[in-house]
Amino acid sequence: MTQTLRLGIAGLGTVGASVLGMVARRAEALTAATGRTITVTAVSARDRSRDRGVDLSGLHWFDDPVELARWGEIDVFVELVGGSEGAAKAAVEAALGAGKHVVTANKALLAHHGAALARLAEERGVALAYEASVAGGIPVIKAIREGLTGNTISRVYGILNGTCNYILSRMEAEGLTFEACLKDAQALGYAEADPTFDVEGFDTAHKLAILTSLAFGVEIDAEGVSVEGISAIQPLDLTMADELGYRIKLLGVAQATAEGIEQRVHPTMVPKASAIAQVMGVTNAVTVDADAVGELTLIGPGAGGAATASAVVADITDVALGLVRPTFGQPMANLASPRRVEMQRHEGGYYIRLTVHDRTGVAAGVATRMAEANISIESIVQRRSAKAASSDPQGLSGQPVPLVLITYAATEGNVRKALAAIDRDGLLAEAPQLIRIERE
Ligand SMILES: NC(=O)c1ccc[n+]([C@@H]2O[C@H](COP(=O)([O-])OP(=O)(O)OC[C@H]3O[C@@H](n4cnc5c(N)ncnc54)[C@H](OP(=O)(O)O)[C@@H]3O)[C@@H](O)[C@H]2O)c1
Repeated sequence: MTQTLRLGIAGLGTVGASVLGMVARRAEALTAATGRTITVTAVSARDRSRDRGVDLSGLHWFDDPVELARWGEIDVFVELVGGSEGAAKAAVEAALGAGKHVVTANKALLAHHGAALARLAEERGVALAYEASVAGGIPVIKAIREGLTGNTISRVYGILNGTCNYILSRMEAEGLTFEACLKDAQALGYAEADPTFDVEGFDTAHKLAILTSLAFGVEIDAEGVSVEGISAIQPLDLTMADELGYRIKLLGVAQATAEGIEQRVHPTMVPKASAIAQVMGVTNAVTVDADAVGELTLIGPGAGGAATASAVVADITDVALGLVRPTFGQPMANLASPRRVEMQRHEGGYYIRLTVHDRTGVAAGVATRMAEANISIESIVQRRSAKAASSDPQGLSGQPVPLVLITYAATEGNVRKALAAIDRDGLLAEAPQLIRIERE
């Protein structure tokens, strides 16, 4: 092992520039920890003239990250460009192909090409490290892969997207709409100009797919994640959740069942007293249910230059120490093929908000359809405005009013069947809102 570990960093944006600064600032401590000098020798980005607030003098510049990846004067290729295809993928493949270790923060790349890249890393005997790709500064990859090997994990779930948690926290605290909170999130730099990837749950799905592979020893299966975002959540849902003892969070959940592994991303009602319910704003959290440790929750910053660089530098430190671990916790040949479980088979409690015509007998009609589909109702709340109650005490007007049901454990298939029957009965004034409940 040479004394010096030479890094080539591709991508000098929020994370890349922070990594450069951190490696320089922590040089002495990193040498003390690893016995090696860790130094950046080359960088790559698109715009050479941009001031990035870090000193690039003396570093080789590459316009093309693929050329940097193949350059003979680096030992580790640090990929901080982003995106599942294009330059990031080509450069990581080139680096691994050239026998160089790779450290990346790129969840999209891992989610879509993780298995193929891990095989390549394994063939070449090099590390493919990605701590920063899930929950930014929270060392959750290490916790699951290295810290819990004595456990059988039954479920892993988390708040993995700060943008969504910020929006839901503000909607709850201030009674604002999704649209108003999204606008604020964009103004504050928490959400992209095109927020689809975050608010529709795809970013969470990528991160969840990575956690699933590690937690359950299966090959990564991003296409197997059922995904639903937060854009349809209304202030009334947050008010009702509060009254019923819940908060709404966008969760990524991976759960072992008799049929296989459920992977799902959706707005979720969590009990107000649970650890995950306390996580507000842009903060991330991951909870692991495991047989020996019980419930373990890690909470911390899921994004931001410094926090994400912290995870990248931890991976670089491992490489400097010569630690080359199997990418997903075990040799690729040992990973099982994932057995997908269709969302229809999911079993759990449901919050169902119906908008019904305010007529006598509607609640009874809904209850009948639920019973026919084998769904037991834990509570039912019917809301009529004070005005409607006084002007139309017998409910003859048929005005649309909310009717909220909380169910005991039911299958998604049965819930959908009951809702279709209620719709056929002509009881609904609007499409129903359905939010799954995740209990501890
Ligand atoms: N930001 C976070 O908080 C965070 C947290 C966790 C994980 N991550 C992940 O970290 C990675 C980087 O994110 P970021 O926020 O730092 O992104 P960013 O600020 O947009 O920076 C991307 C960098 O890549 C460079 N780049 C883009 N296309 C390139 C190409 N074809 N060739 C060479 N360079 C290219 C850009 O160059 P120019 O500067 O010249 O345009 C820029 O420096 C992503 O995978 C992201 O998902 C980010």
